[in-house]
Amino acid sequence: MATTGLGPDRVEQLIEELSTVEKIGQLTQYFYLRPPQSGLAEAALARAGAGALLFVTDPAEINRLQRLAIEGSPHGIPVLFGFDVIHGLRTILPVPIGLAASWDPDLVERAQAVAAREARAVGIHWAFAPMVDIAPDPRWGRMVEGAGEDPLLGSVIAAAQVRGLQGLQPDNEVVRDEAVRDASIPEGHVLAGAKHFVGYGAARGGRDYDEVDLSDQQLHNVYLPPFRAAIEAGVRNIMCAYMDVNGVPATGNHRLLTDLLRHELGFEGWVVSDADSVRDLTTHHVAADLADAAARAIEAGVDMEMATHQPAFDRLTDALRSGRISTERLDASVRRVLAAKEAMGLFEDPYVDEEAARTILADPTHRDVARRAAEAGAVLLRNEADLLPLAPDRLHSVAVIGPMADSPRDTLGPWVFDYDLDETVTVLAGLRDRLDGQAQVDHAPGIPLDERRFPSMFAEMGEDATGSPADFDTAAEFDRAVRTAEAADVAVVVLGERQDMIGENASRSSLELPGRQLTLLQAVVATGTPTVLVLLSARPLDLRWAAENVPAILEAWYPGSQGGAAVANLLLGDATPAGKLPFTWPRTVGQVPMSYAHTRSHSPDGQGTRYWDEESTPLFPFGYGLSYARFAYANARVEGPDATTLDGSLTIAVDVTNTSERDGVEVVQLYLHQRYGASSRPVRLLKGFRRVAIGAGATERVRFTVGPQERRYWSSATGDWTLDPSTFEVWVGGDSAATLRTGFTVAPPGNPAVADPSRGRAPRR
Ligand code: NOJ
Repeated sequence: MATTGLGPDRVEQLIEELSTVEKIGQLTQYFYLRPPQSGLAEAALARAGAGALLFVTDPAEINRLQRLAIEGSPHGIPVLFGFDVIHGLRTILPVPIGLAASWDPDLVERAQAVAAREARAVGIHWAFAPMVDIAPDPRWGRMVEGAGEDPLLGSVIAAAQVRGLQGLQPDNEVVRDEAVRDASIPEGHVLAGAKHFVGYGAARGGRDYDEVDLSDQQLHNVYLPPFRAAIEAGVRNIMCAYMDVNGVPATGNHRLLTDLLRHELGFEGWVVSDADSVRDLTTHHVAADLADAAARAIEAGVDMEMATHQPAFDRLTDALRSGRISTERLDASVRRVLAAKEAMGLFEDPYVDEEAARTILADPTHRDVARRAAEAGAVLLRNEADLLPLAPDRLHSVAVIGPMADSPRDTLGPWVFDYDLDETVTVLAGLRDRLDGQAQVDHAPGIPLDERRFPSMFAEMGEDATGSPADFDTAAEFDRAVRTAEAADVAVVVLGERQDMIGENASRSSLELPGRQLTLLQAVVATGTPTVLVLLSARPLDLRWAAENVPAILEAWYPGSQGGAAVANLLLGDATPAGKLPFTWPRTVGQVPMSYAHTRSHSPDGQGTRYWDEESTPLFPFGYGLSYARFAYANARVEGPDATTLDGSLTIAVDVTNTSERDGVEVVQLYLHQRYGASSRPVRLLKGFRRVAIGAGATERVRFTVGPQERRYWSSATGDWTLDPSTFEVWVGGDSAATLRTGFTVAPPGNPAVADPSRGRAPRR
């Protein structure tokens, strides 16, 4: 029987009517994979035992399973379909770290709106995105899914993704309003799920799933801000993390899931476990058995279990019977899940239009957004003697070298499942298309695609990691690549890591280019042909040799369906690079973790010589990225008095001039350092940025507001959020090594320095 006509009180009425077993069913999400999991899920649907499914993307299959759910539920309650829509469904966007490298929240929002539209079209209601984990250690494979190391950039990108996926009001003030937060998710959008709460990126040694030990100041100042931003943007769901945090698994961690998430951050949506992480409370040797695991998870604050096996939540009946879990606690979780179904309009309209899905997935405007996003996020790391952009009219032949240059699957990157390889534009295809009729484009892979030593877990799921042919003749192919490069006007060498070498369960102990890629690069450069290195990767690789010997280097990330078209546009000057690094790029693995936002210590002058065998400065600083245009910064200043009160704000202005003859886009960045106070504060911390288009020869004045929000921090000296009276140094520029500076003073309450701007000036060196 369908529950129609219950009106706005439907959720409450259902809670009154549902049996305990039906309620527990609402709190269970099943993977729908190959047998035996699919059988488990279908059996659950038939007995009202599943509230959600995941991993189905075929609209006809979604409709079939939805029908089973509705018919199997005495109250006709539909299921939610969730999926890892991380960077697109059919149209694959650049990987999230590449989107973040655009430093362009509007673009990120538009890109995720495309992903949402495609997902909703096939019947998916809920994306397990954005992944907002701060990633300080590039050995950790999952850094590809996030926005890098910085809490401010991470927060801005997190909120943009939530807005794009959920289609809610862009203005945070509006979303904070309950009416909007509880509103329906508009047509063409999905519920977003920020993950993984919290601290996953601090895995010891960068080893995925390993334990995390997180101080309160790191938690509050670094790891929580993107979650806070996602919540303020109205995110409906949060996924908890797998690993243990300070000795308590995140899934059974009341302090994280209730004290912090609900009470401090004010999250009102529902919390889902990570896959099998409730059951895994027994694997951690924390829960005695599955019943104990289920009770611990729900006591901690988990609402829904994501399961590939028989769910531990089936055993919640034990905890209810014994009184360990109250009916009120159970109902609170059920209410949150049913509210999400209401928000998706599922009770009125549970099925998807299979015909419309085909049209939406084929929408060419989606590919345009993907291409523009790939262009916007690419980071130009080196461009000696303006080798780039290449001038098509002076180019007769281009050698495209490297085993990934024509690998569609590697162009897309990890964490995609529903792609179309035939429509994926590789770098080779993009260049051939762009130079058609103008220049000869020859390709030689040179070396075979390297393999992982331990296979990817996605390989088991049928993920096709197409390798090189078995009869690949390495010696002959290497020679052919060198000869091809030698004969060309320019060599474009496409190197990096294969897509299965990064992502979940894809951490590594080295940052070197895998296999014989460096040898190939060296051989190509030795031919004397001007060489451009295009990187398909998502972690900083050891580029010490390349950064000195290869004239042009473009970090293209895994650029997605239209990646090759974007790279061709960038190399040939139809698009101008403007992406900036969302992480510090170390020289070697021995330096990690490495962040630009370290403290001074008692020995700041020795910062570059901390190791006796290698510089301890980065190869490229956080925020770095070149353009074909050139920008000059001048007149950094505080507008008005350069002193303020603890709760006061001031405006910092800077003039940015495009000194070149080419229009360009610059990401103008503002960094702050507090000279004294309760804690030692980072030498620099990003506190504002703007992506600004500046025409050739033009000057733009860019302004930033710096107020209590920008100055406050969590101090372990006060055990709380703290605002110090202090002097502040400010740097403005195109990366975190900016040299142009100004400063201001924040006076203690009642200090006349505020009235007299000549006093208390921030020192200038
Ligand atoms: C495990 C991953 O940690 C999580 O990010 C993902 O959403 C789920 N599996 C579902 O695939």
